[in-house]
Amino acid sequence: MTTSTELHVVLGGTGAAGRAIVGALAHLGKSVRAVSRTDRGGWPDGVAWHGADLTKRDDLRPVLSDASVVYMAAQPAYDRWPEEFPALIEHVLSALPSPDTRLVMVDNLYPYGPVDGPIHEHLPSAATDRKGRVRAEVARRLLSAHEAGQARVAIGRAADFYGPGVEASVADLNFFRKIAAGQAVQWPARLDVPHSLTYIRDYGRALALLGTREAALGQVWHVPASEALTGRAFIELVARQANVPAKPGVLPKTAVRLAGLFNRMAREFGEMFYEFERPYVLDGSRFAAAFDFAPTPHDVAARETLAWLRAHGSGTVATPAVAGRVP
Ligand SMILES: NC(=O)c1ccc[n+]([C@@H]2O[C@H](COP(=O)([O-])OP(=O)(O)OC[C@H]3O[C@@H](n4cnc5c(N)ncnc54)[C@H](OP(=O)(O)O)[C@@H]3O)[C@@H](O)[C@H]2O)c1
Repeated sequence: MTTSTELHVVLGGTGAAGRAIVGALAHLGKSVRAVSRTDRGGWPDGVAWHGADLTKRDDLRPVLSDASVVYMAAQPAYDRWPEEFPALIEHVLSALPSPDTRLVMVDNLYPYGPVDGPIHEHLPSAATDRKGRVRAEVARRLLSAHEAGQARVAIGRAADFYGPGVEASVADLNFFRKIAAGQAVQWPARLDVPHSLTYIRDYGRALALLGTREAALGQVWHVPASEALTGRAFIELVARQANVPAKPGVLPKTAVRLAGLFNRMAREFGEMFYEFERPYVLDGSRFAAAFDFAPTPHDVAARETLAWLRAHGSGTVATPAVAGRVP
């Protein structure tokens, strides 16, 4: 275990994943520095924000100089991953203050590509799409840095996020806003195949564990999610918690393809459409057993998310270009 005198630095600390990790660490009484280009405020006790641009190598050294644990929760724009993700990772690795520094990578399931059966950590990195390939490359680079003694690395992978602060996902806050307003929501491809969704507060708790447990190091971990529901069942569950009728609809592939002709983000999302055309079920059993971890039931998580929206102003129900947004 680390001690509370150790500094935990969360790169991308204002984003969905970053904010959840910051919150979980602060809850554990850790000393935390949140880093991003723009401050969004609202920090709990024990958290200080520091501005830095990760694309500028020189920005990073001062924010990492006294770090014991670094969490990489920043990401380039969704349509710039192949061009920018590897360079950001090199910047982070080269700015770590010592080879003993722990580096916890926020990751997704893209490296595997389309799979049959549960998605577990020992599947090959078989993605052929550009985002999946670059995420596999980033993970390989980080694990080789661990092997080479350049850093002490752990990687935490999750399915699509939902929950407080999640603004870009198939089940993001706009999806919740629309359901709460009694409106129809569209689910990509097929309403009746199971699809894992990760509650963001579970993810924050899990990454705080990866950053503080020796046993986590040198490995890829799948953060446990509650049971994979179908899109229809998830929409119905959220509607039940909001006490409104559910109005599930389908977003067909042709609509995404068409939108992709004019919209880069839609094009990028189209590349990931396979996730919704077949069962997409994350297996987090290894993490659950290793760290005695249980995910929040979806009904509790949905209630917390709706309560958070009410507390933070539910905002306008915009019509996004594609589905919720992009995962
Ligand atoms: N969304 C999902 O459903 C999901 C699911 C599983 C895994 N993931 C993974 O989780 C990671 C984070 O995703 P997210 O949805 O939490 O992202 P996000 O909400 O878009 O947050 C990104 C964060 O990175 C910061 N950032 C971006 N560029 C930066 C730069 N050049 N310098 C410093 N900070 C920078 C942003 O703040 P500023 O813009 O103010 O700098 C923000 O704090 C990604 O690797 C993603 O693939 C996401």
